[in-house]
Amino acid sequence: MRRILGALGAVPPLLVLLVLLLWPGQGAWAAAPAFTLPALPYPANALEPAIDATTMTIHHDRHHQAYVDNLNAAVARDPALKGLSLEDLLARASKATAAVRNNAGGHWNHSFFWASLTRPGQGGEPSEELQEALVRDFGSIEQFRSAFRAAGLARFGSGWVWLITDSEGKLEVNSTPNQDNPLMDLVPGGGTPLLANDVWEHAYYLKYQNRRADYLDAWWSLVDWSVVSDRYSAR
Ligand SMILES: [Fe+2]
Repeated sequence: MRRILGALGAVPPLLVLLVLLLWPGQGAWAAAPAFTLPALPYPANALEPAIDATTMTIHHDRHHQAYVDNLNAAVARDPALKGLSLEDLLARASKATAAVRNNAGGHWNHSFFWASLTRPGQGGEPSEELQEALVRDFGSIEQFRSAFRAAGLARFGSGWVWLITDSEGKLEVNSTPNQDNPLMDLVPGGGTPLLANDVWEHAYYLKYQNRRADYLDAWWSLVDWSVVSDRYSAR
C-alpha cells in the first residue's frame, strides 16, 4: 500500500482529479440519461375537477417516469440506438424491441398529452383554420367530438385516441393500442398528431373507476385549443 501511495504521490494532483471525474459512472462528466421526464406545465391539481391531483401525480411522477427510466435502460443496452432522438426511435419502431417500442411510445405520448391540456375552460376554441378543417372532414365540430369519443370507447384495453393530420391538412381520428402512436412506422394510417387522449385506466380509474365515457366527456374541458391549432398550422 505504501508503494501505491508513493507512486500516486508522483502523479500530478490535477491528473488524479481528471481520472476520477472521467471514470465511468463518476463525476460531472458521467453520461447523463438520454431521456428525462419533463415537468408538468401546470400544478398537479390544475386540471381538477376533470382530472384529480392524485391521478395526475401518480400518472406523471410514477407512470411517465417509469417509461423514461425503462427507455433509458433499453437504449443503454443497444449501442446501435446511442444518440437517436425520441422521434428517430418511433420512426423505426418496427425494428425495435418491445421495450424500446413501448417505452419510447410511452414517453412521447405522455409528453404530448401534458402539453395538450390546460385548466378547465381556459383552452379557448380551435383556430378558424382548424374549425374549417374539422367541419370539412367530419361534418361539424360536434361530429368530430362524437368520432373522437367513439374511438376512445371502442379502444379495448389500453391505448390512445388521436386527432391527426396529413401534410395537406386532411384530418382523421384514429386509435392505437398500448403505447403505439401515429409517428411509428408500423402504425397504419399514420400522420402528424394534433391531439391525444390517454384511455389507459391509470389515466382515470381513481376518480371514474370503470366509467371511461364520463372521463372522456369531462376531458374536453381541458383541451388547449391554442396548442392544437398551432400544431395544425405547423404541419
Ligand atoms: Fe398514461
